[in-house]
Amino acid sequence: MKFFADTADLDDIKDLAATGLLDGVTTNPSLVAKSGRDFKEVVREICGVVSGPVSAEVVALDHDGMMREAEVLRKIADNVTIKVPLTPDGLKTCKKLTADGTMVNVTLCFSANQALLAAKAGATFVSPFVGRHDDNGFDGMDLIDDIRLIYDNYAFETQILVASVRSPIHVLRAAKIGADVMTAPPAIIMGLFKHVLTDKGIEGFLADWKKTGQSI
Ligand code: G3P
Repeated sequence: MKFFADTADLDDIKDLAATGLLDGVTTNPSLVAKSGRDFKEVVREICGVVSGPVSAEVVALDHDGMMREAEVLRKIADNVTIKVPLTPDGLKTCKKLTADGTMVNVTLCFSANQALLAAKAGATFVSPFVGRHDDNGFDGMDLIDDIRLIYDNYAFETQILVASVRSPIHVLRAAKIGADVMTAPPAIIMGLFKHVLTDKGIEGFLADWKKTGQSI
């Protein structure tokens, strides 16, 4: 499963990239607002750090407007992935952009039928929001299960990008289901390293090593 960082914070992205485990980045208008940075500038800088797909979202709601914004964004770098909402205009834009060889991430997916539409529109990625699904009294991971089943039934190549990840359990379940990608805030990704027994084990080994008086 590929790991994308769901952030527009360049320092966090650099730290994650240094682990060698970062496969891409997703941003959205809220994350750009949180960064306080100029959108195009921050996307350019992220693309300089990460060679994998970097999602940049259009804000126009109509097809022509989305195409205009996509033209600007995809010129920033070859790894820019245009993020469009799961609407008729969004999917029309998706179809046009993917036909031109541009990667597209169809976002704000909340049902398996919507994911089916995204695949039929040739999306590179579909982003089901599991955390927001949970917030509304559903099990977001059931949605991932359904999308995996449907995509496998028809051998769709659209990658399932599990988004709105809020906990390590979301990551674990996404991996068990066989999602292609998960995107999570940096703190969630760094939290995956943690286990109390790992820390305790290191502590014990170092204490015993000290007793040997040796060095490597
Ligand atoms: O980038 C889209 C998604 O991951 C947002 O997550 O936590 O705002 O629901 P969240």
